[in-house]
Amino acid sequence: MYMTNFDSTDFIWDTCIEFLYNKELYAESLSQLLKEHNAKKILDCSCGTGFPAIQLKKKGFDLTCSDLSERMLKRFKNNMQRESLSIPFHKLSWTELNSFFNTKFDAVLCRGCSLPYCVSWEKDSVDLDKARKEIFASLQNMHDILEENGLLYLDLSPRESHSPLNTTFIHNFGSKKIDNQTVSVNWKIHHFLEESKRIWNANVLVKESKKTFSMSFEAYYLRHSELLSMLKKIGFKKIFPYFEVEGENTYDVFLAVK
Ligand SMILES: C[S@@+](CC[C@H](N)C(=O)[O-])C[C@H]1O[C@@H](n2cnc3c(N)ncnc32)[C@H](O)[C@@H]1O
Repeated sequence: MYMTNFDSTDFIWDTCIEFLYNKELYAESLSQLLKEHNAKKILDCSCGTGFPAIQLKKKGFDLTCSDLSERMLKRFKNNMQRESLSIPFHKLSWTELNSFFNTKFDAVLCRGCSLPYCVSWEKDSVDLDKARKEIFASLQNMHDILEENGLLYLDLSPRESHSPLNTTFIHNFGSKKIDNQTVSVNWKIHHFLEESKRIWNANVLVKESKKTFSMSFEAYYLRHSELLSMLKKIGFKKIFPYFEVEGENTYDVFLAVK
């Protein structure tokens, strides 16, 4: 069993982002994609600590953010203030989106492999049956708050990790200097295919203070085929699986047009 320090999940994810992305490169290609779909009014409904909402806001998009985690939103607020930006944000679960907003969006983002954690972010166990139902209800909400022809942007762990032959993944991302500290990151991911369960363990080591921050969340193992069949059932007109986005080297991207 992995140890989780629930007080530092926002710090851990914010640090992971620094290793996973060239933020500017990714935000630029996402911005191009949104422009191609004439999307100006964007909801990032799993905004986390603010990537890529902050970068998109700087590029002039009309951004609204939401997330269920108070801890993530607190860091998002700090990150926003550091950039002297103001983006409206709300503490909301995906299943509350449609009843909360009385406006529609040109695009909804739910990225960072967020969906599988719909009932278990910052929790070390998952109710799989509840999670599956909630994922469907969440996707339905994301569909309903889109304008006609609006774009849903989702991502999940990559194709290679959905093979029955591969069930354990170790990622060592190396180390780099962040805010004058030498930080290294590693992940261990386990897929339990028969149970439809996934465990993600992330560790951040800070060299100078010799501190390790760890978190381990269980999640629903959402297969790509299951996501696609949910999107079809909900009534998205066009679905683009495995859409290539420059700068996205971690997750597989799925686009769906209402
Ligand atoms: C891995 S982080 C991704 C954050 C951000 N999208 C990014 O790419 O950096 C997953 C986020 O999904 C949020 N989340 C998980 N379940 C949620 C739910 N049911 N409703 C709203 N947000 C949720 C978490 O609070 C967390 O901030």
